[in-house]
Amino acid sequence: MTAKVRELLHSRIRDVADYPKPGVMFKDITPLLADPEAFAALTGVLAGMCEKFGATKIVGLEARGFILGAPAAVQAGVGFIPVRKAGKLPGATLAQVYDLEYGSAEIEVHAEDLAPDDRVLVIDDVLATGGTAEASLQLIRRAGAQVAGMGVLLELGFLGGRVRLEPTLKDAPLEAL
Ligand code: PRP
Repeated sequence: MTAKVRELLHSRIRDVADYPKPGVMFKDITPLLADPEAFAALTGVLAGMCEKFGATKIVGLEARGFILGAPAAVQAGVGFIPVRKAGKLPGATLAQVYDLEYGSAEIEVHAEDLAPDDRVLVIDDVLATGGTAEASLQLIRRAGAQVAGMGVLLELGFLGGRVRLEPTLKDAPLEAL
């Protein structure tokens, strides 16, 4: 990715103070999505990542991982698989529970969507604590598929997600744009 593209993407992310609760600085990607030049540039970078990592499928994490992952999959010529919050997928699923600050959450994937010879690139907008990504990577490994890598637009490094993901990613790369 060129410095010019990085600057374009950065310029289209809006900081929203005290959302969704006081003390949180929310990273709003909707200005980037609304700018066709920036959205196309991001799609191209993610599709390039898919090719670079030798991925055969893209998994997008609900909800903003769908918006970023789906066009990248189309551009890269690979299938797109949604990892959804529990109860949203109609077929036979694999499920993974993970801890939140208070309580827990559960995500699911259609079991038939992942095969042992698949190499999967996981895409999301933000890596924060890494809980969502870790559970998704565990789902992919439990399905018998290989993790080709993970790509995110933003990494909130102070929350330690990268370190948390190391045991699950193993040698697979994590790229934050
Ligand atoms: C956000 C974000 C990531 C996740 C990152 O999604 O889009 O998926 O949180 O947080 P973590 O690294 O601490 O797990 P959110 O749960 O807000 O869901 P949404 O995209 O459906 O709003």
